[in-house]
Amino acid sequence: MTKIIQISDTHLVKEGCLVSKTLETAASLKNLVGRISKIKLEVGSIDAIIVSGDISDDGTAESYQRFKSILSSLELPIFLVPGNHDVRSIFRSEFLSAGYLPKAGKLNWHKKVGEIHIIGLDTLIEGQGGGELDGDTLKFLESTLEKLGNAPTLLMLHHPPFKSGIEFMDAIGLHTGRESLGDILSSYCGELIVVCGHIHTNIITRLRGHTVISAPSTCSSFVYNIHNDAPVEVLKQEGGLILHDWSEGFKSIQIEAMRGEALFPF
Ligand SMILES: [Fe+2]
Repeated sequence: MTKIIQISDTHLVKEGCLVSKTLETAASLKNLVGRISKIKLEVGSIDAIIVSGDISDDGTAESYQRFKSILSSLELPIFLVPGNHDVRSIFRSEFLSAGYLPKAGKLNWHKKVGEIHIIGLDTLIEGQGGGELDGDTLKFLESTLEKLGNAPTLLMLHHPPFKSGIEFMDAIGLHTGRESLGDILSSYCGELIVVCGHIHTNIITRLRGHTVISAPSTCSSFVYNIHNDAPVEVLKQEGGLILHDWSEGFKSIQIEAMRGEALFPF
């Protein structure tokens, strides 16, 4: 049994700054860490935390240091991929000491955690909202999957490999490499789930025979409005986190932020 908690889009900033002039994203993350401590009591030991990008909102070293400081009390291994708000060079220098990131190039990585393999892919195009899976990243994925012998695998990237329906987010979606990703995944016969972030909304879909799940953000969400003229507005929402549990197959459980405080006999 292997248990991984996925969080996403923490959007941390320098001390004293707010996101969208409103959101205290560090406070939201601190609340989440408190919840994870409680969840650990309810579900038993957790093997790792994974974070599907936009760790920082402003790309500063201070924002990454705040992230590390807030999560340190959990004493768990943490694995991250960059999102469009992250800055690759600063991200690398702040997290390189964890030992799983490459020293140069795209931040693609592979790590075995418990009984599953986790692969992180870098979709960041620096300075742009949209993402890409470039040739090197696709080759990295293909060669890594070839070595795994169809073992259970969790594949993480920031930009969803599907259209969400939220127009202004799809406009900054995964513009390049989506078809090739599908081609590579279609030949993988093992249990594999794809997890992502970016759209601050939990959507479950399929890609060439594999389940794909986007995680909510730790701090904000959008109204699910599929009209072209939907207002580009953000909602404060300390979203749920997703527990990915491997035992004889993957189960992914969204644990909500707001739960009734009182317990009643069932
Ligand atoms: Fe993003």
